[in-house]
Amino acid sequence: MARKFFVGGNWKCNGTNEEVKKIVSFLNEAEVPSEDVVEVVVSPPFVFLPLVKSLLRPDFHAAAQNCWVKKGGAFTGEISAEMLVNLGIQWVILGHSERRQLLNESNDFVGDKVAYALSLGLKVIACIGETLEQRESGSTIEVVAAQTKAIADKVSNWDNVVLAYEPVWAIGTGKVATPAQAQDVHYELRKWIESNVDAEVASKTRIIYGGSVNGANCKELAAQPDIDGFLVGGASLKPEFVDIIKSAT
Ligand code: G3H
Repeated sequence: MARKFFVGGNWKCNGTNEEVKKIVSFLNEAEVPSEDVVEVVVSPPFVFLPLVKSLLRPDFHAAAQNCWVKKGGAFTGEISAEMLVNLGIQWVILGHSERRQLLNESNDFVGDKVAYALSLGLKVIACIGETLEQRESGSTIEVVAAQTKAIADKVSNWDNVVLAYEPVWAIGTGKVATPAQAQDVHYELRKWIESNVDAEVASKTRIIYGGSVNGANCKELAAQPDIDGFLVGGASLKPEFVDIIKSAT
């Protein structure tokens, strides 16, 4: 089954009002394959979401970088899934390794967040990935399977889930996984979904790669059979993001 290529830009905690407008402006001017070929989602910090949504071309979409695990209320500093829905934001990134590592988000907590966001109709980019230590000890598949299981245990409908495999050692380091390394993990993840969820879900779910993707390495990664797109950090702030979108074809 053909899976539509997906390119997400995670702007992380970067940008000023002016910089955000500049990024949106080069995105709006870019000539890229149509929405039938590639789905493009950019994720600015929360404070810029309304601005980006109002300026961004209609064939690209905005995502939040996180949301709270349950209904909003007395949770100082948090942003609820309800608020994203209210703003017309369709997508949210959950379980990014920076949150797992720096803010101690556990597999279970991420699973709960994914389930809650989906229950409100949001689409989720769910991030998983092993550390360098885990890779070197040979436990990569075990780690990403456990992260995926925590999501699968709480989610029955995968239609609105994109799984982002992001090896922690490749994030922001310039040390991209080789196409073969990334393909191996994507293949194993799809096999895991097939055995533990459902064959149809396995064939339909987009598994995207993140970690030092740039305009120069995207083509070779995109050519791998189980790599269905990218979640891009640093390069999503630069015009080369357009080249990454174009790697869809
Ligand atoms: O969410 C994106 C990833 O953390 C990748 O970041 O492209 O800067 O390595 P990077």
